[in-house]
Amino acid sequence: MKLTQFLLKNSSIPKQALVDRFSKFSPSPLSMKQFIDFGSANACEKTSFVFLRQELPVRLANIMKEIDFLPDKLLSTPSLQLLQSWYATSLMELVGFLEKDPDNKTILKKFTETLVNVRNRHNNVVPTMAQGVVEYKEAFGSDPVTNQNVQYFLDRFYMSRISTRMLMNQHSLIFDGSANPAHPKHIGTIDPDCDVTEVVKDAFDSSKMLCEQYYLTSPEIDITQVNAKGPDQPLRIVYVPSHLYHMLFELFKNAMRATVETHEMALHLPPVKVRVSLGSEDLTIKISDRGGGVPLRKIERLFSYMYSTAPSPVDIDNSRNAPLAGFGYGLPISRLYAKYFQGDLQLYSMEGYGTSAVIYLKALSSDSVERLPVYNQSAIRHYQTSNEADDWCMPSKDPKKLGKYERRSQ
Ligand SMILES: Nc1ncnc2c1ncn2[C@@H]1O[C@H](COP(=O)(O)OP(=O)(O)OP(=O)(O)O)[C@@H](O)[C@H]1O
Ligand SMILES: [Mg+2]
Repeated sequence: MKLTQFLLKNSSIPKQALVDRFSKFSPSPLSMKQFIDFGSANACEKTSFVFLRQELPVRLANIMKEIDFLPDKLLSTPSLQLLQSWYATSLMELVGFLEKDPDNKTILKKFTETLVNVRNRHNNVVPTMAQGVVEYKEAFGSDPVTNQNVQYFLDRFYMSRISTRMLMNQHSLIFDGSANPAHPKHIGTIDPDCDVTEVVKDAFDSSKMLCEQYYLTSPEIDITQVNAKGPDQPLRIVYVPSHLYHMLFELFKNAMRATVETHEMALHLPPVKVRVSLGSEDLTIKISDRGGGVPLRKIERLFSYMYSTAPSPVDIDNSRNAPLAGFGYGLPISRLYAKYFQGDLQLYSMEGYGTSAVIYLKALSSDSVERLPVYNQSAIRHYQTSNEADDWCMPSKDPKKLGKYERRSQ
């Protein structure tokens, strides 16, 4: 069932009109500087409230429009129905604040409570969506066009989710009246002085613990850091440490698993080498393992949502109890976190030897601006690509037949 039908069926209020109305606005990407200003000494809850009560519905409505372009059979899975109901409910709750008085303290308090509710309602969006994709794939298989559309959609859908969670977290953390005792200098989730090497070590330690639990052994780490601005200076950027930790933890889990499984019989495991470097434009983190590598042909697939395996219900209900390899979203979601503030994540592999995963982040906070999907004609065109013939010759699948043909034609 399309979102349009879903909304009309489920309420007498014209929710679809709201989706249409808010999707006509483009989301407004915020820069790191704007995030920091919202939370600085003269932070104004009222300004943040007035911005969010419009911006959150705009971001939700923009992505809700794109849900409609998924295949009907995927939309009608119970998982997708549930997901759409969460989005519709949250949109309605947020829009409810549009006519409210920003000078009323009770309203501001209620708004923060609503943000927390919305955030919690959407906690399981990723595994629920993954479940829907798996159900669809099991029932109907997958073809290149659907695969391409689902990939395009999910990258945008999860990016939109990262961004709305960021906005909701910032507002609720900054204006709940209590400072963060462990990190008094943090502004909501942002550390204006994030020591990258510290986060690397934290993520490595957690991954190591998990690896030892599972394999009873784990590789060591070998870190080198290079600061172009001054040797021996810590590498600091303005960043969200939890995002950085998420990416690093995923990359370390992958590197450790590959290392241990490739060197099962060896007495000594080759260490995971990490190099962190800060230049004038990029902060780069390279994680290299000697875990046997991946052939080039398969690299793109590692970022695919449709090629990944099923999430078990255990993963959904108990997401903290994460195993070393879950349902295959580690790489694609980590790449989204990197791209969210204009960075990237790339894999370079040498089959037979090992893999290097590289995270690129912006060194300057003025370059760190949210990267957001927008619903427009170009987005629609992406969903309309058909199964056209390739414009590069395809090699024959059966070389023996080709040989016969060549002999005959000589
Ligand atoms: N460093 C690496 N060396 C060898 N293979 C790798 C490496 N990193 C990733 N892979 C391959 O890529 C696949 C996808 O990785 P990804 O992290 O996205 O998912 P996963 O590890 O299978 O599950 P999850 O990360 O969701 O728990 C892995 O299953 C593994 O086969
Ligand atoms: Mg992984």
